[in-house]
Amino acid sequence: MKKNLFILAAGFIAVTSLMVTSCTKEGPQGTAGTNASATCQQCHNFADTIVAKIFQYDASKHATGSTAFEGTNKSCAPCHSSQGFEEVVTTNADTTTFGIENAAPINCRTCHKIHNTYTASDWALKTTAAFNPRYDKTVSIDLAAAGGTSNLCARCHQARKASPWLSNPTSTTDSVRLTSNRWGPHHGPQGLMLAGKGAFEVGASPFLSSNHRDVASCSSCHSAYAQGNLVGGHTLHMNSSETGDNVGTATSGCKKCHPTITSFDYNGRQTEIEGKYSELRLKLAIANVLDTNSMLLKGVSSGSPKYFKQKQLAVYWNFCLVDADRSMGVHNFAYTRDMLDAGIAYMNSLGK
Ligand code: HEC
Ligand code: HEC
Ligand code: HEC
Ligand code: HEC
Ligand code: HEC
Ligand code: HEC
Repeated sequence: MKKNLFILAAGFIAVTSLMVTSCTKEGPQGTAGTNASATCQQCHNFADTIVAKIFQYDASKHATGSTAFEGTNKSCAPCHSSQGFEEVVTTNADTTTFGIENAAPINCRTCHKIHNTYTASDWALKTTAAFNPRYDKTVSIDLAAAGGTSNLCARCHQARKASPWLSNPTSTTDSVRLTSNRWGPHHGPQGLMLAGKGAFEVGASPFLSSNHRDVASCSSCHSAYAQGNLVGGHTLHMNSSETGDNVGTATSGCKKCHPTITSFDYNGRQTEIEGKYSELRLKLAIANVLDTNSMLLKGVSSGSPKYFKQKQLAVYWNFCLVDADRSMGVHNFAYTRDMLDAGIAYMNSLGK
């Protein structure tokens, strides 16, 4: 189908130039134009480059995920549709102006400047610039490793700002009235986690950060050596049921910097984080804050509003960040540990 379209397009160019030639009778000779198909061939050629990337991309969650339909809504379109992303990269707004009809899923054009100049320079990414995260537009995040390519990913892989927002997150006296059990950071805060930003620092001292941010990009780990369409490359998968996370090539990106690594549980850090995560989850459940079935706030709805201490919500928000990050400390071990420790200490202070 795509091949046919391409032949059609090439045919169209050929026919138009024929028409131009036959209509021009005895006009002066123009300067030689560029041959359109010559620039097309910088990408559309005998090499398997595009084919391989499509093969990988087709297996990625960006292609197979079930959330493309969310792209129609103007609040969701910035991250769940290609056109919405294109718009907010320019406007830097949190929503698109209108809902998107005919929303396209995340595809080659979402990230690359495909068919902008019709030359190979269109492989350039839509953005690599530092950005102001949604949770606080006065903060600047720059994931500068590998030319800033992670800034592209982090524009979508960041928390959404919750409403009402916490004006005094360390307060154990101020309360906030909530009417929705969905209060929290939404899915996919990995860009913030890598940057070591976005948590409420409610511990005894500032949260530390492990230094992946300055040395590794999302692609350094997620797109390292592609194994077919199982892991790496444009699949962006770190593991697959066929390779596990210990074998195959999923740790090949890590090996560039941690030559002895055999699994993601490097130095037992994932085990350590998993333990703290489970402990805090249990404490939040016992305190009737977290519903562990829905993984949302417990007992809150528009019909039954509930009051929470600001610090309790800050601890809950941080817990949600770790939960939604899904790397169990790989993205940023020290930051993740400090968020969980601060939460556990607060729950202990309540006797939970
Ligand atoms: C930067 C590399 C690049 C260049 C240069 C390029 N293309 Fe493409 N083209 C792509 C990619 C990537 C796709 C999308 C593949 C997909 O989504 O399956 C594509 C898709 C197409 C398609 C299928 C329909 C569509 O739009 O998805 C046609 C037709 C096409 N290109 C024609 C051209 C023509 C004609 C030129 C030159 C005037 C050209 N391309 C130059 C990369 C390029
Ligand atoms: C336009 C917004 C957007 C951009 C840009 C973006 N993502 Fe995503 N990403 C999403 C959404 C939305 C999903 C979930 C799709 C679904 O499940 O339907 C997702 C899913 C993923 C997943 C799969 C998670 C799983 O459940 O297996 C990975 C991994 C990922 N993205 C990594 C990246 C990386 C790395 C980049 C940059 C190269 C990137 N993303 C750029 C929005 C984006
Ligand atoms: C700031 C970007 C952003 C916005 C805005 C956004 N999402 Fe998402 N959403 C994501 C990312 C990124 C993921 C994938 C996270 C991952 O796989 O770890 C995701 C995942 C999801 C999922 C899949 C969760 C799962 O468990 O598979 C649903 C459903 C979803 N979003 C719904 C929505 C809806 C509805 C809206 C609008 C009200 C919305 N999103 C707005 C970035 C966003
Ligand atoms: C989620 C964002 C995203 C999507 C979707 C995406 N790419 Fe990429 N692509 C990247 C990133 C990031 C890089 C690495 C760029 C770098 O390191 O400079 C890259 C690199 C590439 C390269 C190497 C470019 C070069 O300069 O040598 C090619 C070719 C490519 N992508 C093709 C595709 C094709 C074809 C599709 C669609 C099937 C696609 N990409 C979809 C993010 C994306
Ligand atoms: C240092 C390597 C590394 C970097 C850098 C990195 N990731 Fe990950 N990421 C991982 C590992 C490892 C996992 C999976 C852990 C596991 O399955 O135990 C993961 C998990 C994820 C997941 C959950 C789905 C999945 O594939 O398991 C998403 C989504 C994700 N990362 C997105 C990103 C984004 C977006 C960036 C850049 C902002 C990023 N990651 C940077 C290593 C990395
Ligand atoms: C580009 C280099 C680079 C890559 C790629 C990389 N790391 Fe790292 N990693 C580092 C550096 C540097 C540190 C030390 C950070 C510090 O101590 O602040 C680190 C720290 C860590 C830590 C915390 C260790 C501790 O005991 O404090 C873990 C866990 C980790 N990396 C796991 C991984 C995994 C898993 C991968 C692959 C999915 C990976 N790293 C890929 C450079 C890298």
